[in-house]
Amino acid sequence: MSSDAEQPARRIAVLISGSGTNLQAIIDAAEAGHLPGAEVVLVVSNRRDAFGLTRAEMHGIPTLYFPLKPYTSEGKSREDYDRDLAEQVAAAAPDLVVLAGWMHVFSPVFLDYFPHRVINIHPALPGKFAGTNAIERTFEAWQNEEVDVGGCMVHYVVPEVDAGKPLVIAHVPILPSDVLSDFEVRLHAAEHQIIVQAVRLALARIWSDEN
Ligand code: GRF
Repeated sequence: MSSDAEQPARRIAVLISGSGTNLQAIIDAAEAGHLPGAEVVLVVSNRRDAFGLTRAEMHGIPTLYFPLKPYTSEGKSREDYDRDLAEQVAAAAPDLVVLAGWMHVFSPVFLDYFPHRVINIHPALPGKFAGTNAIERTFEAWQNEEVDVGGCMVHYVVPEVDAGKPLVIAHVPILPSDVLSDFEVRLHAAEHQIIVQAVRLALARIWSDEN
């Protein structure tokens, strides 16, 4: 029996803001038995029209739409939002929280609920192009001969944006014939691989920490 097979059932919460192709990669891997014992038990979006919510519903996964706007309209703080969302996520008792295209920077208020158990995917290499539009900025930097390769990573989340210890990194080449969309397609394909590898690795680390 492999060490994976010995792991107990693991609960994953996935937070999204958009299409949810990385969420889909996790769901597909779990359903195919490539994440032994793991199950996506909750999908949260801060955007109502995020297609990832539909993806979750199509697989019978509970969803939660949790927007920031009502908080800002009522003069509440980001910490209030983070605390209330953390409570909602904690109610699903996740072993791992995956930020998969989640366009909101968490304060320590959220992160403290799930110490060492929140991971994030970023479409650039460690220390590169933190924040939004990382793919476009990488491509532009390549055109300006400032970088010669792109990449993506999954890392543990810390309060600093797109920083934190990397779990899995993939270098993604940019070819001379590429237009931006060619690089984007290649990069997203790499993301769909590393998100699954990172979930598997993070769950294995949780298991080894407990044993
Ligand atoms: C990914 O490129 C991820 O790296 C970035 O947002 C995108 C989300 O894509 N943070 P999807 O919603 O998983 O399709």
